[in-house]
Amino acid sequence: MTDTLEAFIAGLPKAELHLHIEGSLEPEQMFEFGRRNRVDMPFNSVEEVRAAYAFSNLQDFLDIYYQGAGVLQTERDFQEMAMAYFRRLHADGGLHAEIFFDPQTHTDRGLPFSIAADGLLAGMKQAETELGITSGLILCFLRHLDEDAAMATLKAAEPWLDRIVGVGLDSSEVGHPPSKFARVFKASKERGLALCAHAGEEGPPAYVWEALDLLKVDRIDHGNRALEDEALTQRLVASGMTLTVCPLSNLKLRVVEDLRAHPLKRMLDLGLKATCNSDDPAYFGGYLGENFVRTAKALDLSRADLVTLAKNSFTGSFLDEERVAHHLTAIDAYAA
Ligand code: HPA
Ligand code: ZN
Repeated sequence: MTDTLEAFIAGLPKAELHLHIEGSLEPEQMFEFGRRNRVDMPFNSVEEVRAAYAFSNLQDFLDIYYQGAGVLQTERDFQEMAMAYFRRLHADGGLHAEIFFDPQTHTDRGLPFSIAADGLLAGMKQAETELGITSGLILCFLRHLDEDAAMATLKAAEPWLDRIVGVGLDSSEVGHPPSKFARVFKASKERGLALCAHAGEEGPPAYVWEALDLLKVDRIDHGNRALEDEALTQRLVASGMTLTVCPLSNLKLRVVEDLRAHPLKRMLDLGLKATCNSDDPAYFGGYLGENFVRTAKALDLSRADLVTLAKNSFTGSFLDEERVAHHLTAIDAYAA
């Protein structure tokens, strides 16, 4: 093939499975919403905001990420933020996204659950109509808060559950193991929701075991540290568990010190069902396409590796079988 790596990746049909929509809020939009909603911001310029995005770990990032979300006040804000993300995804050749949102970040500052949920659902509908992008919404519980708060959030979400595909678990990992949320995950499963949990980003392999055995998740978000445990790795391979890996996030949050040392290629070679995602692209320096391109270059990924990542993004999605089959056929046709 003579086309460039960038062109090959752009044309490859793919889905994004690990994206926090609040983490797609670009500094320009943060100022726009801040002004529109008369919310005071601790920064004077877009440049000042970007300069603050130097993180040495997950908590450094989370502190600034929760602060940034404070400008989101209306359904219109959430809809516009979502549409800005979907336009980027469309430009990168993305066809489907399963997006996380953190309702507690918004309800804890006084917004009703409906503002975030209805705004995001409106953006998702608009993306399907205008861009042909399909999507699913995943409600994340904040793990630094207690399980009762997660239960209250699930209850508040009850009227929206027919439009929410699953639940997730995010925020500060270490010290907040999956076991803390066993009841609310069981209740979520009983309501027909798919289950995801961040595990093994900074937390130990034991947290990945707990996500599998106690929460009974359908997907592991990140999962990097599972590689430290051979039996766990074997379990993940044998069960075909999808890992939603985020290379540029891992670099920014110092989960890896150099992209060339990123485990994504090793994961694929071990037979793990890894996918490539952007996590919080406004904060971590790149959307889906950039994650693919920079990782492919750093790890010297083959076209076959890239095709595997693209296929995994659909077989690991919560789309129905027929849609998955359609996308897999399109990937085969493209690769040929
Ligand atoms: N990890 C945990 N929680 C998060 C992240 C992340 O990368 N992004 C937004 N919330
Ligand atoms: Zn994440």
